Amino acid sequence: MEIIKRPRRLRANSLVRKLVRETKLQIEDLVYPLFVVEGENIKREIPSLPENYHLSIDRLIEEVKEIKELGIKYVILFGIPNQKDEKGKEAYSYQGIVQKAIREIKKNFKDIYVITDICMCQYTSHGHCGIICEDGYVDNDKTLEYLGKIAVSHAYSGADMVAPSDMMDGRIAYIRNILDSEGYTHIPIMSYSAKYASAFYGPFRDAAHSAPQYGDRSSYQMDPANINEALREAKLDIEEGADIIMIKPALSYLDVIRRIKDNINAPIAAYNVSGEYSMIKLAISNGLLSEKAIMESVLSIKRAGADIIITYFAKDIAKMIKEECK
Ligand code: PBG
Repeated sequence: MEIIKRPRRLRANSLVRKLVRETKLQIEDLVYPLFVVEGENIKREIPSLPENYHLSIDRLIEEVKEIKELGIKYVILFGIPNQKDEKGKEAYSYQGIVQKAIREIKKNFKDIYVITDICMCQYTSHGHCGIICEDGYVDNDKTLEYLGKIAVSHAYSGADMVAPSDMMDGRIAYIRNILDSEGYTHIPIMSYSAKYASAFYGPFRDAAHSAPQYGDRSSYQMDPANINEALREAKLDIEEGADIIMIKPALSYLDVIRRIKDNINAPIAAYNVSGEYSMIKLAISNGLLSEKAIMESVLSIKRAGADIIITYFAKDIAKMIKEECK
């Protein structure tokens, strides 16, 4: 039997496999999420999110130093305030936890790029991502004013990029406009454009104390069954002035990432969310999976079309990439 085409020729050894490898993860592709709390000398592991911590600002600086040594240059900050109220005022206070953290990181590091999440759910007593009207519904247009204030307070404190994750209509145009009128024309917006009402945010809500106190987020986050709607959302956000389009979660939505990548001419980000992370971490620590599952799952997000990946695995991946280079 004469076989002319033999695909195995290009799999024969690791050198040739590397030569023909189509997708390569780089440390520069990764954004690492960090959780900041009020107080001093706090580094508390988050039970639902193994190897991730609640950090007070002093310990946050230590953590940033550590990730910088691994080559990670991009972080996204989440704040856990001491006080919550109906209107989430700690979210836009200039003395808020995230605002203080940005200033401190910027003071200590020249070459760390700080992205901030623009949302209200960690700051409101009811845990919803906006202002509630009398009937319990999240009031879209009223919420925009608050999102605008949050964005400006982050930019003022030194954030390099803002990432609205609330899913209100018209928020990108509103935030772009207010940033520009306050003199922050240079600050890019990474929009959580296709953010689904997902069960995979569970560990994050535990970490950020941001679970809704009643109801769920289905009146603003997207239905997991929809993909055409994701493309509509992404197109709207581009028209409104978004610089980067994000899809979230990532692993259950690889088709959405690919569809948006093929149809939208902008950098595409994907959020490899807390549930996706903890599931694999727990399977590894219980001996069900090998560590290789980490690279394989994050690589799949890049292969699907993501240029930027926000992931709790960033440190693991950075170590693996370093190891490979040796
Ligand atoms: C805030 C926000 C959430 C996440 C990122 N920003 C939670 C939510 O929408 O409930 C989830 C991230 C993760 O699960 O890792 N709205």
